[in-house]
Amino acid sequence: MPEPLMQARPKHNLGQSGLSIGPIAYGCWRFAGSDVAAAQNKIETAIACGMNLIDTADIYGIDNPAGFGSSEALLGDVFKAQPALRYDMVLASKGGIEPGVPYNSTKTYLMRACEASLKRLRTDTIDLYQIHRPDMLAPFEEVADALSTLRAQGKIREAGVSNYSPSQFRALQANLDVPLASHQPEFSALELGPMLDGTFDQCQETGALALAWSPLAGGALINGKTDDKDLATRLYAVAGVLDAIAAQNSVTRAAAALAFTMMHPARVIPIVGTQTPARIKEAASAIRVKITRSDWYRVVEASLGRRLP
Ligand SMILES: NC(=O)c1ccc[n+]([C@@H]2O[C@H](COP(=O)([O-])OP(=O)(O)OC[C@H]3O[C@@H](n4cnc5c(N)ncnc54)[C@H](OP(=O)(O)O)[C@@H]3O)[C@@H](O)[C@H]2O)c1
Repeated sequence: MPEPLMQARPKHNLGQSGLSIGPIAYGCWRFAGSDVAAAQNKIETAIACGMNLIDTADIYGIDNPAGFGSSEALLGDVFKAQPALRYDMVLASKGGIEPGVPYNSTKTYLMRACEASLKRLRTDTIDLYQIHRPDMLAPFEEVADALSTLRAQGKIREAGVSNYSPSQFRALQANLDVPLASHQPEFSALELGPMLDGTFDQCQETGALALAWSPLAGGALINGKTDDKDLATRLYAVAGVLDAIAAQNSVTRAAAALAFTMMHPARVIPIVGTQTPARIKEAASAIRVKITRSDWYRVVEASLGRRLP
């Protein structure tokens, strides 16, 4: 019987902040509406399940009538209702997407964006502030200056990036005095990019946290919905292997899919996005899933649609 790979689970630390992070995180992209009690229940459920990194962004809510900033504002309302919750979590947010532009990582914009986020979130500091997407027009020196200034002012504790390539990460890092604390790429059993393009190698090289967005491919891995024929074939194959792993561990396919991401040696932290408290609990069972080396590679081969040499 091959040895399962997920046994010891050392803590994840956020940069130099001294803050510890659980193996799974909770995300607020879909966190919307005006029911503060329901929103509080989701956050409390996530934290109770060990998902203490809560990831949001100023842009979240843009697709809802409440618009830009509304997801952060809802989290701020939760803190107003239950102030202690702010101290039970590691609060992560993002800035740098400016509606209609679309990207802006100039110092002036990021300083303003971060201050607006703090106000909406009703807090004095954001534990992890991430540049949401690379701004091709912003010199890395200027982005670094913005992040260093925000850090010196105590408005953020640590800085990270999302959707950055490894070379963009390196260029930004070269202008900073402290290590970037995180990379946040899309990663799931269906989207293997960051383990093939050097992103996760860089996390292991630098110690940056590897945060994975849409670890269930935005739900497609569970509900199988896609109009793309090639993707549908891969999805069907990946789902088959995940279902076998799930059956061996008496968990759901969602838990098996999350466990697949967590097994990568970059010590990936999947950010789950469900708005259903029961599914948040279901996601937490991913930490006890054991996947053999050969089954993990079977998921990879199903996802790539070819055998590895
Ligand atoms: N940095 C970036 O550019 C970026 C981009 C996208 C997302 N993110 C981050 O990543 C987080 C997660 O993204 P995501 O929401 O796309 O993640 P996900 O976990 O891949 O997908 C969540 C979606 O799957 C659905 N779902 C269906 N069955 C499920 C099950 N059994 N268990 C759990 N979910 C199920 C959920 O619906 P229900 O709500 O109905 O359960 C929800 O719509 C976001 O909140 C955000 O923090 C970052």
